[in-house]
Amino acid sequence: MDELLDKTNLDFRARARHIAETVVRPIAAELDRDNKYPWPVIEALKKDGLMGVWIPKEYGGLGAGVLNLCIVVEELSRACGGVGVAYAVNALGSFPIILGGSEEQKHKYLPLIATGEKLISFGLSEKESGSDASALKTAAVRDGDHYVLNGDKKWNTNGGAASFYTIYAITRPPGGVRGLSAIVVEKGTPGFEIGHLEDKMGIRCVPVHELHFRDCRVPAANLLGGVENGGFKSAMQTLDRARPGVAAQAVGLAQGALDLAVAYARERQQFGQPIAAFQGIQWMLADMATQIEAARQLVYACARAVDLGAKNFSKLSAMAKLFASDVAMKVTTDAVQIFGGYGYIKDYPIEKYMRDAKITQIYEGTNQIQRLVIARHLIKEAAAGKE
Ligand code: CAA
Repeated sequence: MDELLDKTNLDFRARARHIAETVVRPIAAELDRDNKYPWPVIEALKKDGLMGVWIPKEYGGLGAGVLNLCIVVEELSRACGGVGVAYAVNALGSFPIILGGSEEQKHKYLPLIATGEKLISFGLSEKESGSDASALKTAAVRDGDHYVLNGDKKWNTNGGAASFYTIYAITRPPGGVRGLSAIVVEKGTPGFEIGHLEDKMGIRCVPVHELHFRDCRVPAANLLGGVENGGFKSAMQTLDRARPGVAAQAVGLAQGALDLAVAYARERQQFGQPIAAFQGIQWMLADMATQIEAARQLVYACARAVDLGAKNFSKLSAMAKLFASDVAMKVTTDAVQIFGGYGYIKDYPIEKYMRDAKITQIYEGTNQIQRLVIARHLIKEAAAGKE
């Protein structure tokens, strides 16, 4: 419903849609097949000024907030889910700086990200620390004007492509929720190595790497906000703001799959008529469209709450990510079903949507973790006597 969006939202949507259709869609299959980074898309987004949508104006961005970020992610993901996350992960990596960086740090990093000159990523997870985020082991020990980092990160999306890495590390042993800090590490810092590249089921155009830190000396000036041990909250507040982006990726993917399914159902003839004439297919399409619209409106509601400065949107953010990603998995699976045998082979683009959708139920907090966050809020609100 265009009427629910304002002129600015519609303008961002049109610009992102143009890039999605003219730059992303023609190369999506090739990027997926060859694990190629979507540099032509980044170039197009840079040229159109879309790399800094969510970054405040005073730091070189467009100051257009999370709703417009979600709209751009959705449109890109409609053509390729991998491209959607390659873009969105820059928001994930930069939110800790926007939220907790000093003025100096904001002026140093954000304008470069806003122009797209540099990409950024987010390093929280480790081999033994995924859902249990505070169990991470990478350590940052103060030594004069530096921190010395040692440890290994896992699941770093945009690894290698990014120039800046927001890394979470222990600054007060043994770590945990009160012993972590966020530090920006620049690519090329001695002792920082981009490791193993994961061979993934989907989102294959965006690299996911291990990161290794071996006596890596990082200027103490890179500690976000200059204050130690606030890292866990920084990570949680960042994820609250970034999860609508994953949800938007899921909505875009689902919409892209539905578009293809509707077009195919109108073309594919069986029993002397297009399969779109069969009620069984019509009801599937109707359910898919309804689920997508419900997910979209939940994502937009959450993004608007963030932009309006709502005090606590963790629950809504978790709901949006949970619901939209479950919808994406269901809708893309049903879209493959509508394509029948042709949905299961790579001659058609639809199987890629199903592969790309799966990760949205896993990253930025599994959907089991989203349910835990939602339930904890419900119980806390009930205990406080709120509705
Ligand atoms: N905002 C602010 N503070 C928060 C918070 C939030 N959303 N959530 C928790 N906190 C605070 C709590 O209030 C608490 O502080 P106090 O003790 O002062 O009250 C402290 O943090 C600890 O909170 P919990 O006891 O709830 O912590 P927990 O250990 O039980 O963990 C969790 C909570 C929700 C399970 C958390 O660990 C979590 O979110 N896990 C999932 C991690 C995740 O999403 N990882 C994704 C990695 S990024 C990624 O996937 C990127 C990619 O590839 C694209």
